Amino acid sequence: MCGITGYIGYRDAYPIIIKGLQRLEYRGYDSAGVVLYDGKNINLSKTKGKVSDLQEKASQEISIEGKIGFGHTRWATHGVPNHVNSHPHLSQSSNLVIVHNGIIENYDTLKQELVLRGYTFHSDTDTEVLINLIEEIKIQEKCKLGKAVQLALQQVVGAYAILVFDKEKPNELVIAKLGSPIAIGIGKENSEFFIASDATPFIEYTKNAIYLEDSEMAIVKIDREIRIHKINDDSLVEDLRIQELQLNLEQIEKGGYEHFMLKEIHEQPNAITDTYRGRLLANKGVIKMGGLDDNIERFLNAKRIIIVACGTSWHAGLVAEYLFEDIARIPVEVEYGSEFRYRNPIITENDVVIAISQSGETADTLAAVKLAKSKGAFVFGVCNVVGSSIAREVHAGAYTHAGPEIGVASTKAFTTQITILALMALKLGKIKGNIAAPVYQTYLQELIQIPDKVAQLLEEDAHIKKIASIYKDVPNFLYLGRGYNFPVALEGALKLKEISYIHAEGYPAAEMKHGPIALIDKNMPVVVIATRKGHYKKVVSNIQEIKSRHGQLIAIVTKGDIVVRDLADHIIEVPETLEAFTPLLTTIPLQLLSYHIAVMRECNVDQPRNLAKSVTVE
Ligand code: M6R
Repeated sequence: MCGITGYIGYRDAYPIIIKGLQRLEYRGYDSAGVVLYDGKNINLSKTKGKVSDLQEKASQEISIEGKIGFGHTRWATHGVPNHVNSHPHLSQSSNLVIVHNGIIENYDTLKQELVLRGYTFHSDTDTEVLINLIEEIKIQEKCKLGKAVQLALQQVVGAYAILVFDKEKPNELVIAKLGSPIAIGIGKENSEFFIASDATPFIEYTKNAIYLEDSEMAIVKIDREIRIHKINDDSLVEDLRIQELQLNLEQIEKGGYEHFMLKEIHEQPNAITDTYRGRLLANKGVIKMGGLDDNIERFLNAKRIIIVACGTSWHAGLVAEYLFEDIARIPVEVEYGSEFRYRNPIITENDVVIAISQSGETADTLAAVKLAKSKGAFVFGVCNVVGSSIAREVHAGAYTHAGPEIGVASTKAFTTQITILALMALKLGKIKGNIAAPVYQTYLQELIQIPDKVAQLLEEDAHIKKIASIYKDVPNFLYLGRGYNFPVALEGALKLKEISYIHAEGYPAAEMKHGPIALIDKNMPVVVIATRKGHYKKVVSNIQEIKSRHGQLIAIVTKGDIVVRDLADHIIEVPETLEAFTPLLTTIPLQLLSYHIAVMRECNVDQPRNLAKSVTVE
């Protein structure tokens, strides 16, 4: 779960690599490194810490000349985050150099064999083993770099995206992929090549990119050549599958906001509109979704829907459980990708599996997708990143079109996932005859009001910031919600803990009396989602239980509420909406509350400790 980026062409490589690494820091920021070839020497610099630390170090310790080079930003898997474990890694002769994203599972066995052949290792990484294996094969087989990489990878068990350079073949870079993503940006008439874990590092240079498939490797050369072939045999990939990228630079910059997270919170009105644009034709009473329409029978005949996801996407899956069961009357099970993949689940050909993932790269969700496919289920993806591994693996799907989400804490991904899933539930509910035409029409008309209502809520920012300032130093928080808003309580707690490091737990409100109520005293802030729909009266009783124990109550209520106003210490009002859509509103103040608390605690909001945006390891 690291970021890699490289360049080969006619420009200075260093600034391209550094800027690229900064854009990839969401993939990990334990350490960073860069390597350049200046026509004579390999110059390498690396350090524990962020790309900004690397920049300072590199400019002092190496020549930053060169038209070929690559870099790495690391999320530590094998070996603690320190200088020696940082990438790039040199081979024993120092002629070969590599960066790697992924895990070599059999690295220990390979390492022992190499030790017997006289290799010594300086780091604890699996990557140093791989580069020495490539070197050993190159020597033994007397072959070129490309062949040595191919033969080495045939011995490797695990996942990788790698970039390799050989001083003896200084006009080319070798790239290979299995399980971890890698894209190649192609300059005009092959005059230059950009390589990166995603397309953001090269978006201002080219819109043409190839996403390598699993078990493929590419050789890109300074003399305008690109060749892709399979790793397991020598067959050439004839069709280079060059895609035109839809991304633009503005989308991946902060645009005047202090943090990406804040920008992304504020993007939600537009993001939700982009999600239903062209799909929701409210006035005509029509929902059009290619992936669903083309496979509608699979959904209508499904005995049940199994949703697989992780983290925030799993919370969106829980909201979908309410939506599908309530509106479409299809039984739903929601599973963590990581549990599902290992517990020998019962999956049949009559099941529809929906995989939800912002990045489309989450290893556990991807593995769950592969497992479900192997058992004959129909697998549908709800992803944000176009062309991502999950998006390519599923039978059909729908993109959320939320635009790049760079802050590690997921915000607009959640609301746009719920939007897509609501559209699906409504379409299925209508076809199955579970909702009457006027009710269906009310849903559609209300859904198109949601972006405006989210925008109104964002204007509550100053009020929420004030509440944040009161609670910024507490050690614990409790979040409670019922029905559609139970997953929002979980999501609110996750947001707070991941960016502010305050311990927070989410619970279904009624479960409080089965244990968590013991935690409540005058020092415990409790956030309760108490919108007027659904189980309002029951939640009000829960609120009374909290107040009798002197808990500090922050209530998310529907505009105009007077009952909870009298009980709560603070209220945040959300516009009225249909119960099924309340999560699209109630989640917004919780995102802002976490954001402000984290900023006030001087936490790194966009890059919280120990985390990374895409979790591409299990
Ligand atoms: O890219 P995905 O949606 O598959 O990511 C899943 C989780 O890793 C992600 O939602 C994570 O929990 C976020 N940090 C939550 O804010």
